[in-house]
Amino acid sequence: MKPLSTPRGTADILPAQISRWAELESFSRTIFALYGYREIRTPVFEDRSLFKRSLGETTEVVNKQLLEVKSQRSDSEEAGLALRPEGTAAVVRAYNQNGWERSEGLAKLFYVGPMFRGERPQKGRLRQFHQVGAEALGYQGHNPLLDAEMIALAAQLLKAFGLKNYRLQINSLGSAEDKAGFAAWLRTALHDKIGSLSVECQAQYERNVFRLLDSKDPECQQVLSGLDIGTRHLSPKGLLYFQQVCAALDIAGVSYEVAPRLVRGLDYYTHTVFEFLYDGLGAQNAIGAGGRYNGLVEQLGGGDRRMAPEQVGAIGFALGLERILLALEAEGQSVVAERAITAFVVYQETAEQDMPQAAFRLVQELRTAGVACDMYFGRNNKMKQQFTQAEKMGARFVLVLGEEELRSGSIGVKDMKTGQQVAVAAGDIINYLERS
Ligand code: HAM
Repeated sequence: MKPLSTPRGTADILPAQISRWAELESFSRTIFALYGYREIRTPVFEDRSLFKRSLGETTEVVNKQLLEVKSQRSDSEEAGLALRPEGTAAVVRAYNQNGWERSEGLAKLFYVGPMFRGERPQKGRLRQFHQVGAEALGYQGHNPLLDAEMIALAAQLLKAFGLKNYRLQINSLGSAEDKAGFAAWLRTALHDKIGSLSVECQAQYERNVFRLLDSKDPECQQVLSGLDIGTRHLSPKGLLYFQQVCAALDIAGVSYEVAPRLVRGLDYYTHTVFEFLYDGLGAQNAIGAGGRYNGLVEQLGGGDRRMAPEQVGAIGFALGLERILLALEAEGQSVVAERAITAFVVYQETAEQDMPQAAFRLVQELRTAGVACDMYFGRNNKMKQQFTQAEKMGARFVLVLGEEELRSGSIGVKDMKTGQQVAVAAGDIINYLERS
């Protein structure tokens, strides 16, 4: 029978890679703490309606990519669940569920974990991928300095990961009214040209005209390149807000390009939107993205009625860890970690002595003292086999237990780098290893 493999679009994160992943996660936690963000862990599945109501019914993520959970149970509670395609919707759900609009001045939250989208898999595009993300929500959350803080935080994370050659693009959609005006302007500007475009582009024109701006269709791109978009859709207030975000980014020393065609693929965005791009990853070159989503809290039934019509201000981002690892690899950073332990205990099999037990006792004593070590568990326990296993495990020292050593109360310590072997008194072994 053929062995089973991972489902399409998913990947095991293998032991050789895991320390790199753990490192990225640990760098993230350190940087988030610098900015006052606290971790939240939400379920990997939620009510499907949460994603429909927040990301938008006409977006690709909801329309085509939502992975629904089919349970054997037929009770209504289990119907209508979907794996989370992103983290923002669940954070807003948790914000509302816990009444944080009252108890938290500004809720600053971060998350690390797997997300799921039923996309056609390709390099850098998976069905299960991992994001590190942050969200800030609150009535205090309407400040352009917070937009700049969020973007600077994402940039500092990328820097901590060791990534150098990425680009940051930003744009503003303006308020909900500005955004509606922007959509109407785009429709009018494209009205006479849309008939010559593909059926898919025509459908997007009808459903959600913004999607045309990230269309990969060359004819569509050509039509769009003729449009002078600029910041025409922004009201004076919206434009001022955007200018203040840019000025604050300058203060924070974050470089960016203004990209008038950047609109993002999810419906909840208002005002600032941004994307971190890494050239050289092919079509999937966005390593992270985010934006402001004022009003989503209310749209999902939350917010303090006494504050109406003021909305909870909110902004966030998410970085895609698989794509970041590809980018780090492209910059020559090794993504595969060496295997290493401090010591490997090998023993001589003799008729009189119970050597495996003696080795096991030593290994346990060393581990209790905090020394990473291991021993051979196979049946063919010839010395050669044991040394081969020690090499496979990347042992720095091999500790040899033989009859002679047991008699003299010592342990042979072979330095695997230099090849030299010395005898160390059994009582000194922990000290010796700690000093070396
Ligand atoms: P997003 O642009 O859909 O935004 O995803 C953010 C990042 O996740 C992308 O830039 C990419 O690096 C990674 N990503 C997305 N889909 C895949 C995939 N199929 N395979 C591999 N990596 C992928 C969001 O998810 C928003 N929730 C970001 C946000 C937070 N906006 C406000 N707050």
